[in-house]
Amino acid sequence: MTSSTAAYLCARGVRKAYAAPGGSTVALSGVDVDIERGTFVSIIGPSGCGKSTLLQIIAGLVPASGGEIFLNGRKVEEPPPPVIYVFQQYQRSLFPWKTVQRNVAYGLENRGAYDAAEIERRTRELIRLVKLSGFENHYPWQLSGGMQQRVAIARALVCRPDVLLMDEPFSSVDALTRAGLQELLLQLWRELKFTVVFVTHDVDEAIYLSTRVVALSRAPARVAVDIAIDLPHPRDQIATRELPRYLEYRHRLLAQLFAEEGLESTARAAA
Ligand SMILES: Nc1ncnc2c1ncn2[C@@H]1O[C@H](COP(=O)(O)OP(=O)(O)O)[C@@H](O)[C@H]1O
Ligand SMILES: [Mg+2]
Repeated sequence: MTSSTAAYLCARGVRKAYAAPGGSTVALSGVDVDIERGTFVSIIGPSGCGKSTLLQIIAGLVPASGGEIFLNGRKVEEPPPPVIYVFQQYQRSLFPWKTVQRNVAYGLENRGAYDAAEIERRTRELIRLVKLSGFENHYPWQLSGGMQQRVAIARALVCRPDVLLMDEPFSSVDALTRAGLQELLLQLWRELKFTVVFVTHDVDEAIYLSTRVVALSRAPARVAVDIAIDLPHPRDQIATRELPRYLEYRHRLLAQLFAEEGLESTARAAA
């Protein structure tokens, strides 16, 4: 496989079996995904189907049992520097003893490539982009959940990654805060032009944010549906969600998820 023919980020026949008492749990059974540079791809699927596993394999954090990941034509065998993984539990990922400024700067300090003045300049810029200027000297526990998630996003983006991997990043905030975080992420994605792979169990969130949605089947997971989301940008929390095409995508993906959950009658009723 060469970089000229392959997509920027590819999963090829990715399998994963975890050792389990008395045997093994097969989480992924041959997943193929092609992600073009600069796109926003969401991965959805039933709880426990292997979404987090797939994201961690893409990140080079967990080894696959079979198959391969390629980034820019190169096989991923350890976490690649241009790829940043944002953990689901953002409260746990921030250092409670560091201020907002120091938490964001950490994203650069542990790379060792910048002097103090450059770290300070980039850190301030990212804090401004996530709209936390004025909170530089606060500690995470002095901030709301949504603000803490913005700190985590700033820390991820401060080193200007090419790829941002996010695992259900907005699942523990209220609906309005969530909408605000979605807008912020889309704005940053448009301005900074990174590639996003976003795991969510929320069909609406996936369609609203993405240029493409990949739905996995129940474990052992395969790709069940893979659709391009052709909705205009910038998106609008109210108008976009009322577009006929949005509702078509929603129908198709929900019917797939309901069928995976054994709720075919619900899916038929929705059809
Ligand atoms: N570290 C692990 N060790 C053993 N089994 C695991 C581990 N991580 C995940 N699993 C199992 O793999 C399957 C997929 O898990 P996961 O990727 O977390 O799914 P999802 O993110 O879609 O909810 C589940 O059956 C889960 O119990
Ligand atoms: Mg998960």
